[in-house]
Amino acid sequence: MSEKSKKSPGSGLRELLKLYRFLKPHAWKFIIGLLFLLISSGASLMFPKLLGDMVDMGNKGLTLREITRTGLLLLIILVVQAFFAFFRTRIFVHVTERTLASIRQSLYNRLIRLPMTFFSERRVGELNSRISADISLLHDSITDTLADFLSQLLVITGGITLMMVTSFKLTLFTLAIVPAMALLAFFAGRAIRRYSKKAQSFVAESNTIVEETLQGIQNVKAFTNETFESKRYREKTEEVARMGIKRGKYQASMSFIGMGIFMSMALVIWRGAVMISNGLMEAGELFSFVIYSGFIAGNVAGMASVYTRLQKTIGAAENLLLLFDEPVEEIDENYVPQPAYTLHGEIQFDHVNFSYPSREDMVVLKDVSFNINSGQEIALVGPSGAGKTTIASLLLKFYDVKNGRILFDGRDSKEFPVTALRSQTAIVMQDVFLFGGTIRENIGYGKPDASEPEIIEAAVQANAWDFIRSFPDGLDTVVGERGVQLSGGQRQRVAIARAVLRDPRILILDEATSSLDSESERLVQEALEKLMHGRTSVVIAHRLSTVRNADRIIVLNDGVIVEQGTHNELIANSGLYRSLTELQFAR
Ligand SMILES: Nc1ncnc2c1ncn2[C@@H]1O[C@H](COP(=O)(O)OP(=O)(O)OP(=O)(O)O)[C@@H](O)[C@H]1O
Ligand SMILES: [Mg+2]
Repeated sequence: MSEKSKKSPGSGLRELLKLYRFLKPHAWKFIIGLLFLLISSGASLMFPKLLGDMVDMGNKGLTLREITRTGLLLLIILVVQAFFAFFRTRIFVHVTERTLASIRQSLYNRLIRLPMTFFSERRVGELNSRISADISLLHDSITDTLADFLSQLLVITGGITLMMVTSFKLTLFTLAIVPAMALLAFFAGRAIRRYSKKAQSFVAESNTIVEETLQGIQNVKAFTNETFESKRYREKTEEVARMGIKRGKYQASMSFIGMGIFMSMALVIWRGAVMISNGLMEAGELFSFVIYSGFIAGNVAGMASVYTRLQKTIGAAENLLLLFDEPVEEIDENYVPQPAYTLHGEIQFDHVNFSYPSREDMVVLKDVSFNINSGQEIALVGPSGAGKTTIASLLLKFYDVKNGRILFDGRDSKEFPVTALRSQTAIVMQDVFLFGGTIRENIGYGKPDASEPEIIEAAVQANAWDFIRSFPDGLDTVVGERGVQLSGGQRQRVAIARAVLRDPRILILDEATSSLDSESERLVQEALEKLMHGRTSVVIAHRLSTVRNADRIIVLNDGVIVEQGTHNELIANSGLYRSLTELQFAR
């Protein structure tokens, strides 16, 4: 028996308690809130007693004054109770919102620092939906569930004690029905939780469909797949409904709890009436007794729903805590460039073998070794899927190599903090990603504290300034989600400007000129040449004409370096490079 498969029943609760560490800074407020809650619930326990007393006073023929005094006392208690309830709600809302904000913040802080491995194994839409669903579950119950539980406990125990004092026998009568109700609540609650969880995951899947199709709406339309997507979405939402309906069956069974409450009341009144007629009890006592039993029954039923809520919350907390347990990359917020980590730009791949963690058995790079001297321009060419982008990802330490080493200036890359390496590197990615804001924000992403002249200078260098200037809003032009309001070539030049602004030691260009017409390609090529000057550059290109001048061209095929040398050497070689070149010129 493995330990993992069999969780102890308390483990979920322990997990939940771990989340209470976020409550710690507000512990005092929380405790005061709890105190207020106990006072207001305690005060409510006095009603039935006082109401019963008043009834008996009438029966015993006491004066108006005496009866009114009890009435006034009741009134004062009511007002006091309401005030305490008012403040405790305010305090709890405050604590909940603050706690939740810090849970959200630290969750996001962790999430964004998780390694690439984590993201390549998950669908972002699903992750997003799950997290927001889990957090909203926590929102509803982080303080309230606990508070409700405590107040119910108080009312139940206090109520039973007061009832016992009045009449032990009659109390047992009242409670006779409780165990059956509690069992019903327990089992129904468990089933409700199970189906809620299932429904939740179908909700996440259906959200993923919405998110992905809206993001790729052009593809959906171009392939006229609206019907297909509608069907996919319908299937998932039908599942959500099915789970909801199953859950509803158990929720509905909760109405028997209501029946139980009234049954126990009827039973008590029947029994009490007999006792009154035998002179064993007074009418007022029975009156308060009945109200107490209503109170208790209501709170027992309430406890059942608290139990269900607690189960849901535990589920949510477990999911969130799993994220907190994921190891994050060591990213240094306040990184200041240190001379010890200043790169000169020398790179060495030393017998590197690599496979992606999500596809362990497929070796993507096989025994790859090469050297790049400081300031050199190296081109990586080769057929699609050869492993070029993978090499770029490894340079940025997105993944760890399995065997072999990557060295910077002769030192193992493991010696460098990721922040040190990445802050001296800039990449223009194969699929350019722009954020939804303005051009200014997108260029400035390379250096968040850049001034306007710096941004303009970078745009000029990337040959982007002309088109930016031609827009009515200039740098403040909004690019739309993922930059859809710019052409492919414009997006690419914005991304190049971003890299220019960063002023990196190492520059990685993954197909940076792929979506440019020949005129802009010439302009961008010029800009890139300027940019590459004096830096180590790794240029990945399909169009071989763009890398002809590289200091060295490395030809990859299927994860293996098959050739390397200058353009002329490789042409003389009549290998893969030459045949690729011939293919392109034949076009
Ligand atoms: N995140 C990933 N997880 C698993 N496998 C991956 C991942 N990214 C790429 N691969 C696989 O690794 C291999 C090399 O991919 P890579 O992106 O490095 O190719 P490439 O040379 O850049 O190709 P292209 O010229 O088409 O951009 C491919 O077989 C690809 O399927
Ligand atoms: Mg690639």
